[in-house]
Amino acid sequence: MSLKPSEISADEVKRLAAEFETAPLAGVLRWIWDKFGTRSAVGTSFQGAGLVMIDHAIRAGITFPVFTLDTGLLFPETYELKQRLERHWGITIEALPPEQTVAQQAAEYGPELWKKAPDTCCTLRKVVPLQKKLSTLAVWLTGLRRQQSGTREKTQVLELYHFDVLRDLYILKANPMATWRREQVWDYIKAHGIPYNPLTDLGYRSIGCLPCTTKSDGGENERAGRWTGFDKSECGIHTFLGDSI
Ligand code: ADX
Ligand code: SF4
Repeated sequence: MSLKPSEISADEVKRLAAEFETAPLAGVLRWIWDKFGTRSAVGTSFQGAGLVMIDHAIRAGITFPVFTLDTGLLFPETYELKQRLERHWGITIEALPPEQTVAQQAAEYGPELWKKAPDTCCTLRKVVPLQKKLSTLAVWLTGLRRQQSGTREKTQVLELYHFDVLRDLYILKANPMATWRREQVWDYIKAHGIPYNPLTDLGYRSIGCLPCTTKSDGGENERAGRWTGFDKSECGIHTFLGDSI
């Protein structure tokens, strides 16, 4: 069930976000679980931060539902990783498909829409399915980190996200990994033997859909390998749906 305005005020969200800045990850997850239970869910693309967050939750006995936006265009390595993670943690990860298959989309918009209009393609294959999912939840947990890119440096641990402007719906967007640095994430993953995407070891620093992901060098922007050649650095799930307050 979606978040009711009476459940939490914007001021309370701001106060909690400040408090969570220095709280341990497990403490933030515990607060969310105790207050919202299965009205909260983790959305993951199986990249480092999301894996650390899910592992912390499971170790604390917290069983958040986990979902992934399955665009139908992910790397074979990513689909295989989903199955490995399900076996590793003994959980089921819900795959959310877009309304149209890749072939149906090609028939309506022309082939390889991502080459002509990646924003439209991301809207159809990620934003719309996510919006539908969020309308069933009170809390969306993400693996966003401030260090990932300039567009993410203001990420708060807890935000009120106006994810559906037309229907005036809000959700609590929790980014418990906001303060984590890339090295901390990977130290944890290696130390705890969590399965991860083998493409990481081949030089891919941020992994999304196959047609829109390339390797990137070790520069500042971790997401430089996404939508190379386009003036685009976000798929829209963190920017198009509405504002955060
Ligand atoms: S993306 O927005 O460009 O795809 P990125 O891959 O860095 O972002 O992931 C940032 C966070 O967005 C993830 O930690 C996750 O919470 C969410 N996210 C990104 N892609 C997906 C996906 N395919 N399914 C579910 N959540 C996703
Ligand atoms: Fe389409 Fe590329 Fe966006 Fe994937 S990342 S939905 S292929 S534009």
